[in-house]
Amino acid sequence: MSERQFFLDHLGQTTPFPFLIEVERAEGNYIYAKDGKSYLDMIAGVAVNNIGHRHPKVVSALKNQIDQYLHVMVYGEFIQDSQQRLVKELLEVLPEELDGVYIVNSGTEAIEAALKLAKRVTGRTELVSFRGSYHGSTHGSMSVSGNEVKKLAFRPLLPDVQFLTHNHLADLERITEKTAGVILETIQGDAGVRKPSVTFMKALRQRCDEVGAMLILDEIQCGMGRTGKMFAFEHFGIIPDIVTLGKALGGGMPIGALVASQSRLNEFTHAPMLGHITTFGGHPVICSAAAAAVHVLKTEISWPELEAKAQRFEDRFKEQKEIKEIRRVGMMFAFDMESAERVEKVVTKCMEKGLITFWFLSHPYSFRLSPPLNMEESVLMHAADLIIGAIDETAGY
Ligand SMILES: Cc1ncc(COP(=O)(O)O)c(C=O)c1O
Repeated sequence: MSERQFFLDHLGQTTPFPFLIEVERAEGNYIYAKDGKSYLDMIAGVAVNNIGHRHPKVVSALKNQIDQYLHVMVYGEFIQDSQQRLVKELLEVLPEELDGVYIVNSGTEAIEAALKLAKRVTGRTELVSFRGSYHGSTHGSMSVSGNEVKKLAFRPLLPDVQFLTHNHLADLERITEKTAGVILETIQGDAGVRKPSVTFMKALRQRCDEVGAMLILDEIQCGMGRTGKMFAFEHFGIIPDIVTLGKALGGGMPIGALVASQSRLNEFTHAPMLGHITTFGGHPVICSAAAAAVHVLKTEISWPELEAKAQRFEDRFKEQKEIKEIRRVGMMFAFDMESAERVEKVVTKCMEKGLITFWFLSHPYSFRLSPPLNMEESVLMHAADLIIGAIDETAGY
């Protein structure tokens, strides 16, 4: 039986049409397949490999940690160097109000913990979210995600969740003294890269303050440099009460984190004690990679240069009439086309040409790009040529 057939027959599937690239290795901007083909990775594991595949500093940190110890104890009991290093790296770039980090296993787990913390801190139950949002695939995180098509089959979900229209000031009045937490992706990712206005974000912050609701910003996809700043909330001049991180935080390893003030995080320690617990959260090997990845983002990426090269890459598509709109924040891109069918042809043609693009969960007529932030400009421009070629070659078919 071929590896492909075994995969289809025995590994849990998520769609009827997986990409099915048989991976041999990955390095920097490229994934190499077993059939000898190489792929320029313009998706980076969906905003995970922000510093490319197998960054040498991440690999070296991993090797060092593996030689010291693997799992030793459930999260929160022992003092472990790589956890300490990761949190020190994060605190250096976080606002001083956010001085506590709780390390978990995934983005979704960070969301679950954030929702619980908002309830615990406020003693309230209502959660407020926004249409178009994606926060994860577990019951709690799905309850605050906006895509009804994906949710229907799994109801009943969490009660007491309200949805507001994204970037719509008038809706903010629906956040009240009953609201425990308001959750928002700082930049909506899977809705097709949607950036709210500064006015909206400031009004949201103010409304949460007025009614005593926790403002939770989900930066799992848009954080860790993806938008051209370390954290996307820096674009808006506001500081959330809780931030969730994941994806690129691990430098290619699985991790999530919940960031808040340490005094609020401490609510998990009593009434009840062990308010959020996790066996593998803060795993020393993963944290060693994450500490290195954050350090690399801080020391090897220049935000002004990133913005300039991303703008020049975007400009390359100006003449391409089939692209109806490009939405970009830093290196987070949505390219709108006339239909989902058109997008599918382009994504498939790009793959044939050795370039990986991808879809959005909740936005069928766009394709997305989230390349490594440290991709050299010449490689980015080569990617633009390949994508434009794929669009031209599939036109009219
Ligand atoms: C904004 C956002 N929140 C939460 C998640 C869930 O993270 P994970 O898949 O690591 O559990 C994702 C994943 O795509 C995401 O993009």
